[in-house]
Amino acid sequence: MDIDWSTLGFHYTETDYIVRASFHGHWINGELVGEWSAPYATRNKMIPVHAAATGLQYGQQVFEGLKVFRGVDGKVRVFRWKDNALRMQASAVGLKMAPVPVELFEQAMRLVIAKNKRFIPPYETGATLYLRPILFGSMHRIAVGPGHDFEFVIVASPIGPYYPGKFHCTSFIVNRRVDRSALFGTGAFKAGGNYGSSFRATEVAHLAGYDCLFLDSKFHRYIDECSAANFIGIKGNEYLTPRSTAILPSITNKSLMMLAKKEGLKVTRRKIRLEELADMQEAAACGTACVISPIDKVYDPDHEITYNFGAEPGPILTKLYHDLQDIQYGRVRDTHHWCTII
Ligand SMILES: Cc1ncc(COP(=O)(O)O)c(C=O)c1O
Repeated sequence: MDIDWSTLGFHYTETDYIVRASFHGHWINGELVGEWSAPYATRNKMIPVHAAATGLQYGQQVFEGLKVFRGVDGKVRVFRWKDNALRMQASAVGLKMAPVPVELFEQAMRLVIAKNKRFIPPYETGATLYLRPILFGSMHRIAVGPGHDFEFVIVASPIGPYYPGKFHCTSFIVNRRVDRSALFGTGAFKAGGNYGSSFRATEVAHLAGYDCLFLDSKFHRYIDECSAANFIGIKGNEYLTPRSTAILPSITNKSLMMLAKKEGLKVTRRKIRLEELADMQEAAACGTACVISPIDKVYDPDHEITYNFGAEPGPILTKLYHDLQDIQYGRVRDTHHWCTII
């Protein structure tokens, strides 16, 4: 195998196996009843899908993303996989799909890691093995409505560190013309449709040299999400993060909130008006891919206002970033029991 771990980005690299499992069932009195097959590994990455599958037509598709780390001690750790399994169940229920049982998620995850273990990057590289569990509707159906057959797949790919070298900042631009998700839509679920519908906004942002900051879709007043990541702001001794029915409950954010409390910060989850950025000393996007991506500025083109946080990551978010990575790489004791050693 000839992988240059140091040049890997956030791209798919071909690995040996994917793992699959199928659900076949029926809707009986509004309840989906059926059975999952046992998970199995296959080298074939192609999945024959019926042209009229509900996953293709009606967006019955949800997914997850989690990382496998090679620690300082050489051990392999998966971070909070059960939270991903539970979130995927919530997403599945949200789109009227069969939730993948936690035990099946775990078996499939262990199998895909075992079958691709030569792709787990060495510790010093900062690269990880990224797992992408996917669930989609496989049943053909012409009448609009949910299907009763589903396919669960886990794809694995080594990915590079988000910050190869320097921990750098990202700039965001506000977009009030494209919403990521309706207030009571599917934003809290990790559904593929949320991402497709945000591509127009991210393209506009990228062309202007930014990432996209999404506001609430009703008033366009409150901060929702930073591209595909949650928002965090530091105001004095307070860790602020939005409360919204339209944002994805980030596992990274949940973990950082606990670490922030441990550091003596006051953690507040509430609606955050965009103008409140002016009172914050630090801001960041957070998620599995980047852990924490500090924000240097947020530009609001409708009001021609720029909120500046400086070109260097602030001390509080930098500390939280290192605290979390120390746990993920086994450099400190995992007192929260977040890591599963494989
Ligand atoms: C829309 C969105 N928000 C937030 C996150 C961060 O979530 P997590 O920390 O669980 O990766 C992600 C990434 O999964 C995302 O896609």
